Amino acid sequence: MFENGELAAARFHEPLIIGVGEKNYFLSSDVLGFIEQTDDAVYINNGNFVLINQAKLQIFDFDGNVIKPEITKVSKEFADVYKGDYAHFTLKEISEQSDTIFRAGESTKEALKEAVDYLRHSKNIYLTGSGTSYNASLVAKYLLAKYAKIKTESIISSELQFSPDLIEPNSILVAISQSGESADVLEAVNIAKKSNCKIISIINSLTSSLARESDIVIGMNCGPEIGVAATKSFTSQLIILYKIIQELNEEIKINFEEISSSISKILEEHNLIKKIASELKEISDIYVLGRGIHYPIAIESALKIKELTYIHAEGIAGGELKHGPLALMDTNVFVIIINPEDSTYQDTLTSAREIKARGAKIIGISDKNSDAYDFWVKIPKTDELTYPISETIPIQLLSYYAALEKETDPDYPRNLAKSVTVK
Ligand code: BG6
Repeated sequence: MFENGELAAARFHEPLIIGVGEKNYFLSSDVLGFIEQTDDAVYINNGNFVLINQAKLQIFDFDGNVIKPEITKVSKEFADVYKGDYAHFTLKEISEQSDTIFRAGESTKEALKEAVDYLRHSKNIYLTGSGTSYNASLVAKYLLAKYAKIKTESIISSELQFSPDLIEPNSILVAISQSGESADVLEAVNIAKKSNCKIISIINSLTSSLARESDIVIGMNCGPEIGVAATKSFTSQLIILYKIIQELNEEIKINFEEISSSISKILEEHNLIKKIASELKEISDIYVLGRGIHYPIAIESALKIKELTYIHAEGIAGGELKHGPLALMDTNVFVIIINPEDSTYQDTLTSAREIKARGAKIIGISDKNSDAYDFWVKIPKTDELTYPISETIPIQLLSYYAALEKETDPDYPRNLAKSVTVK
């Protein structure tokens, strides 16, 4: 800011967007910073800077050449950025999932088909993301192997810089990111591009840096996700994965209506889930146990609990219980058992009984009740492929209501950011 009131700003990697109001300008890293004042935006390119004074907006590149401002009408999807009658964005976004799952990938159908083509014919395929998006890549690894016979490797985005040789040159990197601005994901994409990899990305924000860096962009299309803890973006990522699998394996026919009605049925259980959440108020350790495809969901569940309630939580592969975690089981512990009646059911029920014998409290997430559970949250019976979506919903709700019990701020958890755009 200069004495004469002129304001200068520059974009050097991290996003910079200008909101053009009736009588004023806004500088922000995200449209959501000014969407309530204007939906006219100027996206500033990397290596450009702007000078703003009372009435004038000038854009230059770093060599001083004038750049003509191009105003973009922000898509109306941002119109529903308001909480409406929900207490928090997080609850609103959890509740929207019975609808958002129908929109995932719908605005980029051609891109999804193109991505399938690349996946079908590529030797090495890597998946990467951070946080919940990384957990979606773990689900993808299981499902692509089991239902499309495609082997992939999941890599935590921030880890790739320390083992760049994990990526074979001329491979495919599927980058998953809600914001498309996570510095770790952009860094991983950069490394992969240096090895001449094709970048397929699954993103919610199609005007993001990651979109610009990608060869193929599949849109989550789930509307702005304001709550810092990812909820609807996670299930949108899974739906896109299901659509990819459906294209790769014609024997697979996903019933999206059934998934949506399962989500709606579980959302109706919110009073029961709220009651269970009240039991967690004084708990300091929560474990989430799952086998097979339910193990990555156990990991994602533990992350949701940590982010929203600040309670220590850990996801455990069911078979690993006896190799260590069983030593942690005692009367101070709650264990969430993800156990729909599928191929993992009996083994996981046995684990539940082993844990119960040590005095821990058990919350069973299943289509079938058991005397092993102290609390049971019923999820509708579906097939093994689509359980990951329905079993996530009760955990999101449980984490949200437990956050209210702990009086944290579910939308803006301490120390966390919606998109970590710096390393
Ligand atoms: C974290 C967010 O900062 O970044 C998480 O709090 C998110 O919700 C993670 O999963 C990755 O963000 P993105 O935008 O790359 O999916």
